[in-house]
Amino acid sequence: MWFPTAAAGALANPRTRFVALNGLLDARQAALAGPLLEAAIGPHLRLMAQPIPPESIWEMSRNYSEMLPKVMRQRTLHLDAGQSAGRRAAEAIGLLAMLRSASYRAFAAALAGRPLKRKYGLQAIAYHPGDYAGPHNDHHPEEPEARQGYLDLHIGFVTPGARSQLLVYAKAGHFSEAVEVARNGLVNAYRLPFWHYTTPLLAKPRQAETARRWILLGTFLYQAAPDQGAR
Ligand SMILES: [Fe+2]
Repeated sequence: MWFPTAAAGALANPRTRFVALNGLLDARQAALAGPLLEAAIGPHLRLMAQPIPPESIWEMSRNYSEMLPKVMRQRTLHLDAGQSAGRRAAEAIGLLAMLRSASYRAFAAALAGRPLKRKYGLQAIAYHPGDYAGPHNDHHPEEPEARQGYLDLHIGFVTPGARSQLLVYAKAGHFSEAVEVARNGLVNAYRLPFWHYTTPLLAKPRQAETARRWILLGTFLYQAAPDQGAR
């Protein structure tokens, strides 16, 4: 992985919530990753579907009072611990070795521009055509270690049938920013919490059967004490 010096500490600036970095991974290698993940781990994913509750419309009593909870459809595999068939499959293709490597952790710390806790969470996520995540902010106020903010690091891959998927995020109170994320080897780093959503994955014509976007997700906590401005 090539790491441009300009990206170091990219998220240290308190006004930067999100960066998308292209071209850090070798393009030929990155192009092989989506199909490999799909073949090896695809069969082990769990569908996570939280649809729009009908009562969010029909139990409204005042105009313009709509409230949307976090809605989404995506497929996931937790890679943290335990001995599942999915985890064994991730191990067999070298995925766990990569995501548990010192260089991966150092890469996250370099983007964050601040020390990270040793332990971090890992997950693989796949979007099929029509899968999406509605507006949400990923704030976890009930968890003392995360309530002042934390870092999510995504490394994304697509299969050849994937056409487009946008990550839309808020800046200065409006959903004004959009980034095309259906790209091979795209690295996204999030200084959470902030509002964002992911549009449905679109497939190329006649390729809905095989179109996928994969994310390798690492969740990192900061070492700084909560009152030291980790936000
Ligand atoms: Fe999110």
